[in-house]
Amino acid sequence: MLNSQLMITASAPGKVILFGEHAVVYGRPAIAVPVTCVQATATIEPGEPGIIIHALDTNRTIDYALADPSDPLAAIVRLTLAHFGIRQADLTIAIRSTIPIASGLGSGAAVSCAIIRALAKWAVGVIPCDRPGVITPDYPYIDDATVSSLAYEVEKLHHGTPSGIDNTVIAYNQPVYFIREQPIQTFSVARPFTVAIGNTGVASPTKIAVGDVRRNWEAAHDWYEVLFDQIGHIAEEARAAIESGQIDQLGPSMDRNQALLRAIDVSSIELERLIGAAKAAGASGAKLVGGGRGGNMIALVDESNQGAIVAALKNAGATKVIVTEIK
Ligand code: MEV
Repeated sequence: MLNSQLMITASAPGKVILFGEHAVVYGRPAIAVPVTCVQATATIEPGEPGIIIHALDTNRTIDYALADPSDPLAAIVRLTLAHFGIRQADLTIAIRSTIPIASGLGSGAAVSCAIIRALAKWAVGVIPCDRPGVITPDYPYIDDATVSSLAYEVEKLHHGTPSGIDNTVIAYNQPVYFIREQPIQTFSVARPFTVAIGNTGVASPTKIAVGDVRRNWEAAHDWYEVLFDQIGHIAEEARAAIESGQIDQLGPSMDRNQALLRAIDVSSIELERLIGAAKAAGASGAKLVGGGRGGNMIALVDESNQGAIVAALKNAGATKVIVTEIK
């Protein structure tokens, strides 16, 4: 049981990729935004002998000393403690998340970022430094770039060849135009817009979809390169449209992106059902988000059609619908 007096808590948001998933693994640009209405939260209480990690949503308890080193939760604790030069600690870490698992909303990266930030807050109090125990805005626990790069190490455990977009958008908690291995580019949203995010209820680990796309790319390299170029071009155009407030261009761009995601074989019957329902209810564009094959889709909505689209998604079997403003 955690003692609220001693508790240290940190959270990280979910994310959606508006344009460019999969192609981003192959160096093309993609656009992702945080989704702050869903969060992963890590709570630390000092005191246990050794480190015990409770993943409360999945009912898993991990004894850090005995854990498989490739376990993502044990790995992020190990990497973060090593970053601070800490060899031994006595802690209980509890993790809760409202981000659905394996559904394209970045739950793995968000859990990593929440644990890193909570451990960093705790570490300030225990590591020798020039201002021990001082926690002020000018003495940050850890910077976003470090949070992102530590989380990236664990993304590699979740799926072998991550682009790094999930850890980046979640660690920086702002819209990003992302190109693999290039410095992060943030951009401004000239006119806020709203998307409905519909969950198929089908869990689909990113690793499987990413691995299948890689095999297809190896078998039909030139064709997949053409498809990835087209996806990248859509992301580039969409950035210009978002920065100049031409929101009416985004719906058709989502539809074209979805057609290309179908072509690389990462859509599914359930995703198509929700996308079709959103379009029939008036969405100007809709597409899957993240790895695909299940998980979530998004539809562009406005004040006049939002209610109808949310109802249509639910009627078509969405297990959850989130409406969020991108600004
Ligand atoms: C996963 O959220 C997005 C993918 O493009 C994989 C990646 O970028 O690492 C499918």
